[in-house]
Amino acid sequence: MSENRRKFLKTLSIGTAATLSTPTQIWAKSTKPLQATLADLKNDDASEAYWETVRSQFQFAEGLVYFNNGSLGACPKPIREATMNFRNTLDDFPSKYMWGGWKDEIEAVRKKTADLFSVSEEEIALIHNTTEGMNLIASSMDLEPGDEIISADHEHTSALNPWKYWQEAKGVKLVTPTLPIVPKSVDEVVANYRKAITPKTKVISICHVVNTNGMILPIKEVTAMAHEKGILVAVDGAQGAGMFNIDLKDLACDFYTVSAHKWLFSPKGVGIFYAKQESQQQLKPLVVARGYEDTSIRRFENYNTRNLPEVLGFGAALDYRNAIGSQKIHERTYDLKHYFRDAIKDNHKLILKTPEADTLSAGIQVLEVIGKDVQEVKNRLFDEFGIDSRPMSKFGLNAVRLSFAIFITKKQIDTLVRALEMIANS
Ligand SMILES: Cc1ncc(COP(=O)(O)O)c(C=O)c1O
Repeated sequence: MSENRRKFLKTLSIGTAATLSTPTQIWAKSTKPLQATLADLKNDDASEAYWETVRSQFQFAEGLVYFNNGSLGACPKPIREATMNFRNTLDDFPSKYMWGGWKDEIEAVRKKTADLFSVSEEEIALIHNTTEGMNLIASSMDLEPGDEIISADHEHTSALNPWKYWQEAKGVKLVTPTLPIVPKSVDEVVANYRKAITPKTKVISICHVVNTNGMILPIKEVTAMAHEKGILVAVDGAQGAGMFNIDLKDLACDFYTVSAHKWLFSPKGVGIFYAKQESQQQLKPLVVARGYEDTSIRRFENYNTRNLPEVLGFGAALDYRNAIGSQKIHERTYDLKHYFRDAIKDNHKLILKTPEADTLSAGIQVLEVIGKDVQEVKNRLFDEFGIDSRPMSKFGLNAVRLSFAIFITKKQIDTLVRALEMIANS
């Protein structure tokens, strides 16, 4: 700083001018507590002690045991801190970072996201949530009255309503196959989609993991069948991404949209939108702002002023995830699922209503306590044991939905099982 400027600032009694850090310095400073955490996670250990360490890095209200990640994901402490630091940086010098100051950092988040799904960064937009991604797809399609969209009965309203609003209202027909609740095989599910296809089908809209009972839908098989007939496939990946390994090149769907604030443990309000390079020309931006002429995938995230600290916080959440390792997370999810299912398998009052095969379910399981109403079970789990779950009564499930995210330990599953047994026997 020049001597003149120093003197000038002194006369204004505002001390010396703030040192303006570079984005790289900001990233290093904001994620400092995270770096220490990452060092503890990067090893081959997959013991229960390791996962207890992971659990200790998540913070919940006192006494809360959180089996409800499917509703909203938790965010580890160092990610919360990093996000807060990014927010403070933004507010310390409000105009510097919003329109380009963090360009390289945002591009780095895009690249990490692309790597997570084995696709190109030119196929990833950083949006706000799955609902937005589904609206983007549904509002874009130039469909004619009489064309058909397949959307099965288990779809979430965020994936269904955009099609109703943008397409059904103009005469496009929504075809709704009924899916089996507890199928025994992938073929059983694929058959329902096959039967629903007609020469007028233009799009299959399908979720990766249904929010009702945690069933995984066979995206790869349905996509292969659809593409043979020139049908586009749009996937609601809200409950899939982060729960288990996903290779979007291999699944081959056209569009895949995610809420990073569920199984990727991001700060809230960050979503991912994947559009296969060759399918991008089908799309139109949902919001039109300065720079809309951009022909790259970035045109779908162009909201002008937006939640950049959260997007950078999501980048930090990806660093957290990468320190543990995707494969380790994948295996842990299935380990927790098997541990839980084994623990209740001989109890005839606790009935699982999620398919058993690993190809058909992972980190979400639903369970009925025979003779009890699900709302009572949900309330008692919470009031008597501090366990949060989600009641599901759709499709006659009468079952609590339990999410097995990586911050859940086997000790907590033991507590959950004891609680369910006590409720069943009372
Ligand atoms: C399958 C599915 N799709 C979409 C959504 C909507 O997610 P968001 O509100 O983050 O857009 C949810 C939320 O629970 C969901 O479970």
